[in-house]
Amino acid sequence: MSVTVRVPAKVNVQLAVGPARPDGFHDLANVFLAVGLYDEVTVEPADSLTLTCTGPGSDQVPLDRTNLAARAAIALAARHGLGDPKVRIHIAKDIPVAGGMAGGSADAAGALVACDALWGTGASREELLALCAELGSDVPFSLVGGAALGTGRGELLQPLEVGGEFWWVFAVADGGLSTPAVYREFDRLSPAAPEPVASAALVEALRAGDAAALAATVSNDLQPAALSLFPSLKATLDAGARGGALASLVSGSGPTTAFLAADEEAARGIADALAASGTCRAVRVAPSPAPGATLR
Ligand code: C5P
Repeated sequence: MSVTVRVPAKVNVQLAVGPARPDGFHDLANVFLAVGLYDEVTVEPADSLTLTCTGPGSDQVPLDRTNLAARAAIALAARHGLGDPKVRIHIAKDIPVAGGMAGGSADAAGALVACDALWGTGASREELLALCAELGSDVPFSLVGGAALGTGRGELLQPLEVGGEFWWVFAVADGGLSTPAVYREFDRLSPAAPEPVASAALVEALRAGDAAALAATVSNDLQPAALSLFPSLKATLDAGARGGALASLVSGSGPTTAFLAADEEAARGIADALAASGTCRAVRVAPSPAPGATLR
């Protein structure tokens, strides 16, 4: 018997970052939007905890107990008195690895939902969300999908309404960025950051399904830090803007860049322009919103 769960990537349409807290994290006003690029996590009984991964960038994914999906299985088993989990976890990767699109968080949420189904642990939604929050700031959103405002360190979620489809192009960079390093660079560049506040205009643009209004309001406070550590991203942002993107921004902590398109046809045009520009390793087109972790 095996169980497969599909989990989406995310883009942050607003990422407002406050000053570093005493625990080292930053308070956020983080507007998450799930996009239609998915990893699939499959679990099945095994003699011990094992992990395998296939797909683009899978050679960069750790296959030991530090992997967030393995930690999710360990945490759920511990909570239900099951001891060390005897499970094989397979991740079929399609979300760019170390790209600022919450791929690792998606795998953790997927592993939790899959193991819960495999073991019949019957965890409530609240219990799953609490476990997700322990695993990482972005993991709760991977569970719920859609769109949500994340406050605290991003783990306290308030669902947001999305009134239409938004089309995105993602440019995968050659190389990765470490999220803690990007936050440290943010602290260096913005030593007196104000408290983060969600943009009412952006929330309204999502609700209205209005791509032009969303483009006028997207923002990412981590973008200057990501560009400082990865200066060639500027050329990618410029290439997408020249290709007709309504908005061009770094996705989360990067180095993936995200381009909002007027519609699917425009997205295909922007993707072609980015591919021809030679400023990125791969280009993906995806609609949003997308559902959260879903049993197949
Ligand atoms: O929560 P997560 O493990 O995904 O966070 C990874 C790192 O990103 C943290 O160790 C911290 O350096 C940084 N971070 C932060 N403030 C947040 C979320 C993440 O400083 N709200």
